[in-house]
Amino acid sequence: MGLRDISVWGYSAAALACLCAGGAIGWQYLVEFRYGLDQDLSDTTTESYFNLHVLLMYWLYLLPNALGAISFRAFTFIERENAKRLHAFFNTIGFIASIAGFVLIYKHQQDTYGDYGHFYTPHTYIGMITLALYWFQWIAGVFLYLIPWENFLSKDNMMRIGKLKGGFIQSHRAIGYVCFALIAVSCLLGFITNYYYGFTKNDPNHEMKNVLPFMNKSLTLIFVGMMVLLLLIVNTKYVRPKPKDTYKPQETTTLQAVVPNDKDVEKPSSTF
Ligand code: HEM
Repeated sequence: MGLRDISVWGYSAAALACLCAGGAIGWQYLVEFRYGLDQDLSDTTTESYFNLHVLLMYWLYLLPNALGAISFRAFTFIERENAKRLHAFFNTIGFIASIAGFVLIYKHQQDTYGDYGHFYTPHTYIGMITLALYWFQWIAGVFLYLIPWENFLSKDNMMRIGKLKGGFIQSHRAIGYVCFALIAVSCLLGFITNYYYGFTKNDPNHEMKNVLPFMNKSLTLIFVGMMVLLLLIVNTKYVRPKPKDTYKPQETTTLQAVVPNDKDVEKPSSTF
């Protein structure tokens, strides 16, 4: 294991540890002050039903997305094709959870507050931008990089798809970085909004001195986890090394002019 791998694993472990710890403290607050999952979950107006939004959006959307973001860089011990499948798998969990989390919170807001309840905080505006961009990214990713087009298309059409794939890959990376940042910011804003609503409930148990330790620790850890993961995924030094034996020796001289070897490239070609 080289210095690159140690750094990538170090960043990944630190980021995931902070994100899990921050999410766990945020969840502990929901259990201690906001009924956790104890109330009737078939009643869409309860706090527990609302807490499903947090469960889906944080644990089944943010975290799988984070794992998907690091899977190419950290899992170099598996083939690139399998790393791609893992990346798609994690993001498919995120895709399904984000749809479920949205439908669920929309229903909760409607049933609890009527038409007044929709889209009135920065969390909801930024949340909608996040979902729109993420859903576009998932659909484009599946269409371009997961469907085995070679089984269905002619050679000419394959060339067209190949060009599209190559042309879009930098944008796919850039949108992926932005999506992760947006998801983390949406979660931070969501927690802040929810702590704030708690203070307005006039619940004697929900006093500043009781809630602040949860709020301070959870928000700080999630923020630090987000920054550490961003430091890893935007750093081109840590992109997955290309396989050394991609080209046969007799092809190297002709291909080199078009596709240079990794070791001849001063800066990795995949810039943000
Ligand atoms: C990427 C993650 C998330 C996304 C995309 C997201 C998206 C949304 C959307 C679109 C709404 C508005 C629904 C409506 O108005 O009908 C909403 C509401 C809400 N969400 Fe999230 N959410 C996320 C994570 C979280 C988390 C982790 C919390 C933590 C408690 C949270 C707390 C809330 C609250 C309190 C509301 C009520 C509406 C408000 O006052 O803002 N959300 N969310």
